[in-house]
Amino acid sequence: MNRITVEPTEKAEFYQQMVQQHGSPLLILDCEKLAHQFKTLSKALPGVQFFYAIKALPHPAAIKTLDTLGAGFDIATSGEIELLRTQSARARQTIHTHPIKRDDDIRDALRFGCTTFVIDNVWELEKFVDYRHRVGLLVRVSFPNPNTPIDLSRKFGCREDEVSILIQKAQSLGLHVKGLSFHAGSQCTNSDNHVHAIKQCAKIIDDVYNNSGKLLSVLDIGGGFPVEYMQEIMDIESFCRPVNEALKQLPDHIQIIAEPGRYLSAPAMKAVSSVMGKAKRGDACWYYLDDGIYGSYSGQLFDHATYPLTIFSDIKETEEAVLAGPTCDSIDVIAEQITMPPLSIGDIVVGHQMGAYTSATSTEFNLFDKAKIVAINQPALNTENIVRLNK
Ligand SMILES: Cc1ncc(COP(=O)(O)O)c(C=O)c1O
Repeated sequence: MNRITVEPTEKAEFYQQMVQQHGSPLLILDCEKLAHQFKTLSKALPGVQFFYAIKALPHPAAIKTLDTLGAGFDIATSGEIELLRTQSARARQTIHTHPIKRDDDIRDALRFGCTTFVIDNVWELEKFVDYRHRVGLLVRVSFPNPNTPIDLSRKFGCREDEVSILIQKAQSLGLHVKGLSFHAGSQCTNSDNHVHAIKQCAKIIDDVYNNSGKLLSVLDIGGGFPVEYMQEIMDIESFCRPVNEALKQLPDHIQIIAEPGRYLSAPAMKAVSSVMGKAKRGDACWYYLDDGIYGSYSGQLFDHATYPLTIFSDIKETEEAVLAGPTCDSIDVIAEQITMPPLSIGDIVVGHQMGAYTSATSTEFNLFDKAKIVAINQPALNTENIVRLNK
């Protein structure tokens, strides 16, 4: 269930100003917060090179902010490459991590300048034969994670015992496999699966060298670093400590890279929506917001997320309430069986931790416009929607 915090109405001023200026619904992307997340994760995982998983929040200001800080980018589609082009992001600093690609996807990425690709099966390997002098491949290994609803090893990744077969096949095709990758699952509650995967990959790297003399030089430890939604989570230093210990056991020549998405972008964006209508149904007051499950709150469906919410009221009395989205579908309900002070039409509701897998998966069902993303505190001036704030 969503946690509802009630703040005094004077605290709504900033959001009201933003809505006056840009309309409602809005997503406010704070680039300084994004930069802060990047710096915090960099400190928690020293020596690891980050490739931001664009899919979490594919927005120009996010790209620009992270590019300015020296991050690389994890791309999975030609659309994501186009986004990088608009921000003149460095092509050399990209890895293509989609394990299943069309030839056009490979060509687009090569044309852009990306030379590292992920594969997890023989058919995918064979797609690179014509480009063998231009690419280095990472073999994605599957490490299922029962401790997260977002288990990214179900759909992709080969078994551990298949790695050497793939590497032999690659060698016979003249292809260069430079390392391994895994994704331990998204929003992991602890780092046990990262540690397990690192240890298993260390064994595989060792075995490959002993059996074929092939020296693998890259380990991509994926994403999965958690943020706090409704449940308390361990702080990022505690989460990463065992990961760092496991990484120390790897040979020195191994370059460690990671593909964080959620940890960087989720805390950097807030959703601002307005009450567009209300109705009394049974004991509950229903509030119809101008954003919902088909819009910015799509992560409640696709991403198994539940977002903390803030409403603004000076009224002490509370009543049973439902916060619903604007579309005609009954599943479009953000929060039910909640108790809160009454709201009026036009009042504002703010959603927190809404920068990852929210706008990225929103739709225009019923032809409701998607929430406009307004970037604040941007590091550079070549994107639209620039708002400088002295908060
Ligand atoms: C290949 C790959 N890399 C990175 C990520 C980012 O994961 P997270 O947002 O959990 O950090 C994902 C998420 O789907 C992914 O599929």
